[in-house]
Order: sequence, then C-alpha cells, then structure tokens
Amino acid sequence: DVTRDFLKALPKCEHHMHLEGALTPAVLFKLAAKNNISLPSDDSAFTSAETLLQRYERFSSLDDFLHYYYIGMSVLITASDFEALAWDYFEHAAADGVVHAEVFFDPQAHLSRNVSYETILQGFNAARVRAQREFDISSELICCFMRHLPAPDCEATFKLEDVQASYKRGDVVGIGLDSSENNFPPELFKSLYAGAKSLGLRRTAHAGEEGPSKYIEDSLDLLDVERIDHGIRIAEDPKLMERVAKQGTLLSVCPISNVLLQCLTSVAEVPIRKFIDAGIRFSINSDDPAYFGNNYILDNYIAVQNAFSLSHSEWRTVCENSIRGSWCSETRKEEML
Ligand code: ADE
Ligand code: ZN
Repeated sequence: DVTRDFLKALPKCEHHMHLEGALTPAVLFKLAAKNNISLPSDDSAFTSAETLLQRYERFSSLDDFLHYYYIGMSVLITASDFEALAWDYFEHAAADGVVHAEVFFDPQAHLSRNVSYETILQGFNAARVRAQREFDISSELICCFMRHLPAPDCEATFKLEDVQASYKRGDVVGIGLDSSENNFPPELFKSLYAGAKSLGLRRTAHAGEEGPSKYIEDSLDLLDVERIDHGIRIAEDPKLMERVAKQGTLLSVCPISNVLLQCLTSVAEVPIRKFIDAGIRFSINSDDPAYFGNNYILDNYIAVQNAFSLSHSEWRTVCENSIRGSWCSETRKEEML
C-alpha cells in the first residue's frame, strides 16, 4: 500500500496521547488480577476483555468514555505497571513511524488512589529511556489536570513537592487540562496556568472538543496556552481561526477520537481542509488509542488521507508544522526536519 508506506515514513510527532489511554482491555484484566483490584460487578461490560472491548465501540459522549477510562486506570498500581503501559505505547509509536512523542498523564487519578507521583514517573521514565535507546524516539511528559475536579485541588497537586521537583528536573515539560469539558471553563484555572508560566513550563489545554469555541479563545486569553488540544470547534468562529493562524498556535487534532466520542459523525467532518486553507497549524494524534478501536497515530493519518486526499507536499507541511510546534530542543527539531 503506497499511501500507507508514504504516511508511515513521514517523521511524525505526537502531541496528544494520554498514556492511560494505551490501556487495552486485555492488559486491564491482567493487571486487575495481579493487583487484586475489583472491577464493577453491576456493569456487564466488565464481564470479560471481549465484552469491555465491545462496550468501547459505542461511547455516547466524552463523559461516557471518561467513566470507563477512570475505572480502567484503577488497575495501575506499581512502577512496572506504568512502565509496561508506556512501553506498549512506544512499541506502537515505533511501528507507526513516530520520531517524537509528547504524552499526557493524569497524576490526580493516581494520587487519589494512593499511588505516589514517584511511582508513576519512575515507570514512565523507564519506558521513555528505553524508547530513546531502542527506537530513537524522543519524548516529553505533559502533566494534565482534571478540570472536573475543584480548581483548588488541581493547584494543590501542582504545588506538591514531588510534582514541583519533576518540573525542576525537567522530567515534565509542561501542563495540560483534560477530562469533562462542558461547564468547566478555562477561567477556573487562571491561577494554575499563571503558576505554570512563572516556572517556565509549557502550556496546553483541551478546548473545543465538546465545548464551545469560546473555550478555545479563553484558553488563549486567560491561560496563555501555546497549543490547543482538539480545537475542532474553532471552525464556528472565523475571526478566531484568523487569529490562531496568525499566531501560529498549533491544534493537536484527534480525528478518530472525535468520531468515536460522537463529537462529529465522520472524519470528513474534521475541518482539516478549512485549517489548511486558513493557514492553521495542526498535528494529527491518537488521543486514547486502546479505547478508540486500537487506532494509533498512523491509523489517524490514514483516516485523514481517506477523507481529504492531501497531497504529498501538504502532508510534509503537516509534519513540518508538528515538528516546529513540538516542545523539544531546537537541536532536536533540526534533526527531525
Ligand atoms: N482524557 C483522556 N482523553 C480525553 C479527551 N479526549 N478529552 C478530555 N479528556 C480526556
Ligand atoms: Zn485528549
């Protein structure tokens, strides 16, 4: 397949992938047994890995997905669990031709279960070191805060000694904002983002996935984000599109996720052509591949190609913009270009 080979060979950067979203039903059940974690007995989806996988095929919304996502991650306990999870992702990333990955994680979802921050980081860092050595994949960690939780709780997590130490060491390059979007507007997180900026951390936020384009604008104005995660609903606001194009803000778009969470009815509805015509920079990403039909980054590239038939030169521009919009060193960018 010539198209697949072409897309696979492109130097791809991934900017929007939640490591917890690499947890497959098979691994979920294996870790639940190993760690003695009980799964909900009142939901027949948890009968087996097969029934759970079937349930994943009919998410009705972001919140319906998040319900399963937060139960799923409850099986992650030891550093080796986190390492195996991240390694599973890096193996897929290598097979798909990823050269650089900036991956999210949700510390609050683990700290609340008495899993320490150091356990999480130890596991993820072990996988990252191995991915660099064995696959030549560079990576960065982005610490996400869950917006359905009270903003003061998010700030308290941000200020934890272990968390601050990871920023100072450079183990974590920046912060993000995820989870339920509607009714949890960016303005709630102004002081969190101001604190991150003062530490020199990079900043992004999910916005305009299910929520209105106003959340994109407010993320730019009130949180001073450098990237927007998803951002598809920007298409409703031509003025904002112009601004984002002019500023060079990168949108980390996740086409298959958008369809499976019913934000859009098909990949053809992702405003890819509009973005290109408006000069908006974007990267194409997998979001939570194990929850979204086992579709990793290359599957998302292929889905976009099937819907939009981009030229080779347009694809090279997508990848060049993705490299330039990455949060690695300038030296690393030059290597990838
Ligand atoms: N957490 C994991 N995936 C997410 C998504 N697509 N939107 C918001 N929060 C998430
Ligand atoms: Zn996401």
